Amino acid sequence: MPTIEKIREDFPILKRKVNGKQLVYFDNGATSQTPQIVIDAIIDYYSNYNANIHRGVHALSQEATDKYEASRIKIQKHFNAKNSYEIILTSGTTHSINIVASGYSSILSFGDEILVSALEHHSNIVPWQMVCEKVGAVLKVIPMKDDGALDMIAYHKLLNSKTKLVFCNHVSNALGTINPVKEIIDSAHEVGAKVLIDGAQACPHIKPDFQKLDVDYYVVSAHKMCGPTGVGVLYGKEELLNLLPPYQGGGEMIETVTFEKTTYAGLPHKFEAGTPNICGGIAFGVALDYMNSIGFEFIMKQENDLLKYATKQLEEIDGLKIYGTTNKTAVISFNIEGIHPYDIGTILDKLGIAVRTGHHCAQPIMDFFCIPGTVRASFAFYNTKEEIDILLGAIKKAQMMLV
Ligand code: ALA
Repeated sequence: MPTIEKIREDFPILKRKVNGKQLVYFDNGATSQTPQIVIDAIIDYYSNYNANIHRGVHALSQEATDKYEASRIKIQKHFNAKNSYEIILTSGTTHSINIVASGYSSILSFGDEILVSALEHHSNIVPWQMVCEKVGAVLKVIPMKDDGALDMIAYHKLLNSKTKLVFCNHVSNALGTINPVKEIIDSAHEVGAKVLIDGAQACPHIKPDFQKLDVDYYVVSAHKMCGPTGVGVLYGKEELLNLLPPYQGGGEMIETVTFEKTTYAGLPHKFEAGTPNICGGIAFGVALDYMNSIGFEFIMKQENDLLKYATKQLEEIDGLKIYGTTNKTAVISFNIEGIHPYDIGTILDKLGIAVRTGHHCAQPIMDFFCIPGTVRASFAFYNTKEEIDILLGAIKKAQMMLV
């Protein structure tokens, strides 16, 4: 069983000071921190075998290709996808969603309905609005409830034979709500609709099994999972990825090119035009190895303990309101009566504490609660109760200064 002290040693950034204070990093929902083993993998790539992949016969290119493809297989195994070619490596969740959305703009017809949850990040709203505008499809919203859970009764009522697609995050970035994705997927399938799950905020905490979920498309970002920025995954069932046209034209996504006609490569290359983030893809594999070596059971337990500890104490602060009180990951989104979230965030920063403030790219959730934004503390397995005590002290200080 790893100890927190030992785990924290893996993350060099956790030792640094900010504004003269020891860093307390509670902005893991925006990006997780990077363990030394992943930093080393990045240095190793650029120091020893930096080369383009799938292109050269020379040794470096072969080495880089082998490591990149080995990483794809690690990702496949981590998420239990059936085939490694169902794992498309992208620049991140937003890129992955846009590949699917853009593909569906040539599949959907006028009057088709697509359902999107009220808890979505803008990246799972805007691309679908663009598709609807283009094809005349109708975007309908699965409403949310006061505790931050989805209204599943309303969801079941919205499903009908016109529903072609359902989009939902596995975990809400703004509130941490864990959505009942298995129920969402199974019910959508009963009316013949396909489902895309945004797993950006879930996969740092839990390990989804794509085949068990029977999910059609699932998207992930590496940088929330101890990996580097600029890398992500689009998973799709083989037959559904084959249905989509390529997103970008370019090198490596073709089979043959003449001026008269181009034929496209098979999966996964059809969606991987241009030189990818080779180093990032390899480093993501190392990050997954790292997270698995810590173990998701440990990660969940540690984060749940932090969530319970912080919630109990924050609830005792006068005027502090927490948004999202249902089954959730270790995210606390809150406001203090009479203080703008930005002002709290600024004071916390002066005290060395990193949180996110604002609408969290989820304006419809803020509109639901009639607020401009929240302060969001999002915990990771390397955070500690002592750090939460520092946060509590700092919030009290901010409250004394600002109210
Ligand atoms: N989507 C990321 C967040 O929630 C950036 O902070």
